[in-house]
Amino acid sequence: MQNSKKKLYIETLGCAMNVRDSEHIIAELTKKENFKITDKANEADLILINTCSVREKPVHKLFSEIGAFNKIKKEGAKIGICGCTASHLGEEILKKAPSVSFVLGARNVSKITKAIKEERFVDIDINYDESEYAFGEFRSSPYKAYVNISIGCDKRCTYCIVPHTRGEEISIPPNIIINEVKRAVQSGAKEIFLLGQNVNNYGARFSDKSIKNIDFSDLLEMVSEVEGVKRIRFTSPHPLHMDDKFLKVFATNPKICKSMHMPLQSGSSKILKEMKRGYTKEWFLDRALKLREMVKDVHISTDVIVAFPGESDRDFEDTLDVVKKVRFEQMFSFKYSPRPLTKAAKFSNQIASDIASKRLKTLQDLHREIIDDISLQQEGKTFSVLFEELKDRGWLSGRSDNNFMIQAKGSEEYLGKIVDVVITNPKRMVLYGEIIE
Ligand code: 5AD
Ligand code: SF4
Repeated sequence: MQNSKKKLYIETLGCAMNVRDSEHIIAELTKKENFKITDKANEADLILINTCSVREKPVHKLFSEIGAFNKIKKEGAKIGICGCTASHLGEEILKKAPSVSFVLGARNVSKITKAIKEERFVDIDINYDESEYAFGEFRSSPYKAYVNISIGCDKRCTYCIVPHTRGEEISIPPNIIINEVKRAVQSGAKEIFLLGQNVNNYGARFSDKSIKNIDFSDLLEMVSEVEGVKRIRFTSPHPLHMDDKFLKVFATNPKICKSMHMPLQSGSSKILKEMKRGYTKEWFLDRALKLREMVKDVHISTDVIVAFPGESDRDFEDTLDVVKKVRFEQMFSFKYSPRPLTKAAKFSNQIASDIASKRLKTLQDLHREIIDDISLQQEGKTFSVLFEELKDRGWLSGRSDNNFMIQAKGSEEYLGKIVDVVITNPKRMVLYGEIIE
């Protein structure tokens, strides 16, 4: 009976991997445990926070959020903490916040149905192998399907907490991925979004040792052959693994969206070495500029960290130099945040916070000028757009193949369709245009 269902309120922080984990949690609880979703925390029987720990701020926020939920939650409602902060703080969360019933690490979300049934449950095992676990069928978007292709991360970037929260990297067997893609397409997905911490390192390790000789380029080709798949996106690739084979498949397979995330982190070869990124400024520039050459209108996005320990003015100049040369269409930039368990947190040459703020501002000002210029250049161009949302006053919103946010006037019938749009009024965040019939 519909009204006997329990209500689940779930908040998702962090990256696309967390979004997919939340989808899985929702699928498990709605299909196996008689829950339905609510967007009102005060009505929920279970409040879940799927956390991120990549920077310090969201971790601090967690405890104030738990406090806020305590004030509004229904009598007897449970609170559970999942995700990366759950992995790294574990028991400590229960000690600091006794109202929390369970803590489930980022690599243990498949145990959600067990967690909700126990009193004070903690499972943060980062060696748990979820690579052959079929993810549940719940999609936050009817047109776009996130599909995990690997779990964990084998890189040891010295600033990054993720290997400590998501464990070692294991690729998901190709047959599981392809089956999931087929199911997603059957239920209406047009776009397949492949997810992993280092997608283009796919195939480096499987739990099933009989699976051999398959890399990310091969997987991309296999996914593109599934009938009904119209678009493929992926995140995040690592610049180190951007070999020629990968760039060629990216450039030539028509189903692969021409949008590449290339996390630079720093433009200084010295800092990149300290970060253990495995590439130099020159390698990064070579790959990015080659991409520009191979793919017309390619959209390149990036992540940059400023004020990593030991970063001098000259090192920072190198970062600005790469940004000027590559002219990223999108940039996510952060002040370095020392994270527990990481090597860089123990480096002695930490940078003062006022210098970090100044650098971040300089970088963001530079990038704002670049994207204003890039946006203006899109006027008159035609892009193929998958419309995903109908906003107020008849504005359809979606992304172009090359990842620009585009809006055009239209009606519901365009939702889930891929149509051509000519840009008539480009703005910094959104390119406005008209549908070409
Ligand atoms: N400090 C600041 N930014 C970080 N990131 C990861 N770890 C840190 C850290 N310790 C950024 C990186 C990464 C993005 C997801 O978060 O730029 O690509
Ligand atoms: Fe995603 Fe990393 Fe944040 Fe975990 S710590 S949610 S892997 S961004």
